[in-house]
Parts: sequence; C-alpha cells; structure tokens
Amino acid sequence: MHALIVANGEVKDEIIQRGAAALRAGAPAAEVAEQAARDVEDDADDHSVGFSGKPNILGAVECDASFMDGATRMAGAVAALRDIRHPISVARQVMLRLPHVLLAGEGANRFAAEIGAERRNMLSPEARRLWLERLTAIGLTDAEIHDIASGHPPADVIDLVKRAVGWRDGTDTMNVMVRDTAGHLSVAVTTSGISWKYPGRVGDSPIIGAGIYADDRYGAAACMGLGEITIRLGSSLKAVTLMQAGRTMDEAGRLVTREMAEMLSPGGGGDHMKHVDWVRIILIDAHGKAGAFATRPGLFVKLQSADELTPRVVEAEFVS
Ligand code: GLY
Repeated sequence: MHALIVANGEVKDEIIQRGAAALRAGAPAAEVAEQAARDVEDDADDHSVGFSGKPNILGAVECDASFMDGATRMAGAVAALRDIRHPISVARQVMLRLPHVLLAGEGANRFAAEIGAERRNMLSPEARRLWLERLTAIGLTDAEIHDIASGHPPADVIDLVKRAVGWRDGTDTMNVMVRDTAGHLSVAVTTSGISWKYPGRVGDSPIIGAGIYADDRYGAAACMGLGEITIRLGSSLKAVTLMQAGRTMDEAGRLVTREMAEMLSPGGGGDHMKHVDWVRIILIDAHGKAGAFATRPGLFVKLQSADELTPRVVEAEFVS
C-alpha cells in the first residue's frame, strides 16, 4: 500500500520526515497525523498555528483544530480554544471520549482541563509584537493600544476588526493528511485562524465538511486560506463526494477550487475580505494519489512517501 504524508509547504522538513519514518515503521495514519500537527503547534516560527499563532483583535490566541479518521468517519473538533498547548490532541480526544463532534470556547477549555491537556500561554512575544504593530498600522494611538492591551477595549470592536483583518497577515492553517500502509486516511487540521479576527470567530478548520473530510473509500480533503469561503461551500466534503461520484482527484480538486474562485471574484460574495482572498485545498484519493489546488499561484505543499527520505515540494495548481 502506498503510504504517504502531505502537509503545507510551510511545515518544516524534519516534521514531515518524522511522519514518513513512522509510516515506514508501520505507524497508523491517525498517530502520524496527530504527531505532525503537534509538532507544528509547537513551532514558534509558525505564526498561524498553535504557540506563537497571531491573536484575535484583542490579543488572545484562539485556536481551532479538527481531526478525522477515514476508516470510521469519526471526527472531533475544537473551536476558539485558549491557552492549551496542543489543540489537535484535544480535538482528537473529543472524537474518542465524547458523543459529540465539536466543542467551542468555554466548553472546549473545560473539556481540555478535564482530560488534563497541558496549558500554555500561546501568545509568544513575537506574535504580541506583530499584534501591537498591526494596531499601530491601523491608526490607533499609544493610549488606545494601552487600553486594549490592559483589557479595556473600545465598545466598537467591529470597526477595529474591519480595519485590521484583511491585510495579508496570513491565514495559513496547517493541514496534514496521512495515508498509512493499511490504506487508512487520517487528517489533522490546526490553526490560530485569521489574524486579528473578532473574538469568537470560528473558521473552517474545525467544521467537518468545510475545512476537513476523510473517507477511506473515496479520499480525503483539507483546506487552508479564507475559511469563510469553504464553510459556505462545504468544500472538503464536496471534493470527496465528487470522488465518490467517480471524478478523479484532479477533476474534483479543479471543480471545487473553481467554485471557490468564483465566490472570491468581484461580486462573488467574497468582497468583504478582499485582501485575504485565496483558498487552497489538498486532496488524497483512495489509492494514495495526492494533489493541491489553489485560487492563487505560489502556494506549496510538501509530500513524502514512506519510501522517500525527504519531502517533495509541489506548487498547488492555480485554478482561476
Ligand atoms: N482556514 C483557516 C481559517 O479561516 O481560519
């Protein structure tokens, strides 16, 4: 069976290499996907995931994560989770321990505490610096920034979000998709979401069918970029459903990405976020063929088969 790991181009080679080595040693897809996502969550150089992720407009890092097993189609997810080192593991435990799929906010934090998930202040000094820099760039005075940083935001946070969100400060969710030697597919998605978002904003990453889907019989999908688009289209489930209906992985990727591009075109309903107007989907079919498609050029993924020693960097196919 063709075992492989696929992840964002931004993910460090050594993380993917560890995953491929584990697959070579016979590790199940679920374990490899969770571990790779945990490694990225710990990576302080990545400002869109886990520790050192960029915060919401008021300075709190709120993480979304999801996990799905293609063998059982069981899934677990958390949204707007605060100060927990490994959101992906909490998401997987939701799947394993609760008769639920998605926990949000206070409830997600309660569950994390109950299962003994490790706490961590997720706002790194560098992410805090970037946040303060953005508040300055949108024209706030030192006194206004001081008020926000000390927990006294203005009444009109909507206005702040409109001014801050949309700069290309990133929405680089981490997608890791794994197929093991038994042919099982697992997907892990983890992110701190769109930078400078309104508190409580939830993206596509914890929404099963939008930012993630896996079904061993047909394939798996995961998205990165502007989650507001993939939520509205149900892009990941749609791509897998197209493969179920007999489309190839390439056809499914192109069709779904074209639909996302239309949504992002002028008048297509994406205008409110025009500066972060891109989405990328990664797919694996049931035979282990992987591909990536994006609504803009210059987005990369890394792929490594269990029998390869280093990841290959592949540009996502640009679909307009
Ligand atoms: N795709 C990540 C997000 O929109 O939060």
